Amino acid sequence: MTIQTSASRVLHPGLRSKIMSAAQAAALIPSGSTVGMSGFTGAGYPKLVPLELAKRIEAAHARGEPFKVSVWTGASTAPELDGALAKVDGIEMRLPYQSDPVCRKRINAGEMEYIDIHLSHVAQFVWFGFLGKLDVAVVEVAGVREDGRLIPSSSIGNNKTWLDQADKIILEVNSWQSLALDGMHDVYYGTDRPPHRKPIPMVTAADRIGEPYFHCDPEKIVAIVETDAPDRCTAFTAPDETSKTIAAHIVDFLGHEVKMGRLPENLLPLQSGVGNVANAVMADLEHGPFQNLTAYTEVLQDGMLSLIKSGKLTMASATALSLSEDATKEFLDNIDFYRERIVLRPQEISNHPEVIRRLGVIAMNGMIEADIYGNVNSTHIMGTSIMNGIGGSGDFARNAYISFFMTPSVAKNGAISCIVPMVSHVDHTEHDVQVIVTEQGLADLRGLSPKARAKLVIERCAHPTFKPALAEYFDRAMHFSAGRHTPHILDEAFSFLPNWTAAKNAREAWKDESLVQADAWR
Ligand code: COA
Repeated sequence: MTIQTSASRVLHPGLRSKIMSAAQAAALIPSGSTVGMSGFTGAGYPKLVPLELAKRIEAAHARGEPFKVSVWTGASTAPELDGALAKVDGIEMRLPYQSDPVCRKRINAGEMEYIDIHLSHVAQFVWFGFLGKLDVAVVEVAGVREDGRLIPSSSIGNNKTWLDQADKIILEVNSWQSLALDGMHDVYYGTDRPPHRKPIPMVTAADRIGEPYFHCDPEKIVAIVETDAPDRCTAFTAPDETSKTIAAHIVDFLGHEVKMGRLPENLLPLQSGVGNVANAVMADLEHGPFQNLTAYTEVLQDGMLSLIKSGKLTMASATALSLSEDATKEFLDNIDFYRERIVLRPQEISNHPEVIRRLGVIAMNGMIEADIYGNVNSTHIMGTSIMNGIGGSGDFARNAYISFFMTPSVAKNGAISCIVPMVSHVDHTEHDVQVIVTEQGLADLRGLSPKARAKLVIERCAHPTFKPALAEYFDRAMHFSAGRHTPHILDEAFSFLPNWTAAKNAREAWKDESLVQADAWR
């Protein structure tokens, strides 16, 4: 590990001449470009160039000139990137996972295109040429070494791919990022396209199979911008009673699996999804009976950092940190301790199906709603509006040793049941979902037929307010459904959606007008 003390972190002599202001760098991004930006759940995103690009876009729009770019990232970023560009209507198309409120609003208003793809797919889709050409990479790094190799910052995401595939590269060298991150990363350069692919040589979550640095063609670097700005910290709510009860159900279940001989005493590598509930589960494991845990996950949130600190979690592999302000301080104050226990990898490796299946990962992800047969919606409100995106939940769920999906049984102060007859959007099919957990209880769906699953999900997971209506729906479906394998009454299947009757009546009233409207769409 090399810790430099010189003021500039650009140590490569030939690259020093590329240092310029963020405004000058942003001026190198033309309208219509596809830009690959670093950033993953609020860590390691470029802090200045996107803001300057947003200013250019706003000025162009004020002059009546069109100016938009397409933005590819690792996952969600921050208000200075997604928020700023969406605010000025500067994003033509965005992929993959995002969680920005301004982007969400524009996407759901139909003003911005969004492609929500599995996080493990993004890099390879770019190498395969499925997504078109990448014009510019804007990547935050912690430093540029004398030999030109780049020290990654607090996330890796798709940066290796952006640096490799983009025609031009803009680097943001952020001196807020600790240089003691050096050595925490493992950038695997062994991936290839079929038919030349080789097995990924990883057999434990702790294995290091790559290099600590990115490399790229220095000729492609057109600008270097020096910054000193913190990551967006994630604000987690303290685990409430509901989250704690969900976590307790999971910890009990894992204990039961150990007793049954289906899991070793230190479990298998844990994956913990995004959000408050997932964070609470990690926090609960700290008080649970398991020792010497490991994690093979995508984001490392506060709960997992705390598990590492407690000694219960011996190591964690991830692609990004996603920490609150307090946890960021804890991490930076004790970075030498954490560097020995955390490995950050490219997201095509942290989320790789082959590795997840081989390691036997225990996947735990949040969801919006599940249906009685075990299909899960992680992304859409009322079937049509995006919340965030599928993220890595599909990468993990399909390939996990055991795949959990968890949610409070009700949303919006009890007005909405998160257990429904049929999910309004499917992200994870019944084939990829093994355990559903709410604060009401846990339904182990392994080895059960659809009808047995439905009875168990209603019995164990539904809130008492909605349980009778769900049970009644299932009984009537058993009677009226044409097929009795997965019984449904299709014209009632979405009747649990809020305002369903009002929306149906509105549609009826609109019918006469609809032909005119339909013409307008064509
Ligand atoms: N109907 C309407 N709204 C619902 C709902 C439902 N059935 N279920 C949840 N919501 C709303 C909540 O009310 C809340 O809204 P608010 O932000 O206005 O308060 C919001 O969705 C988030 O729900 P919350 O209960 O706070 O859950 P969370 O923070 O644990 O996040 C997901 C849950 C599903 C949104 C989140 O886990 C996610 O985006 N998952 C998909 C990606 C993923 O799993 N990545 C991990 C891969 S490693």
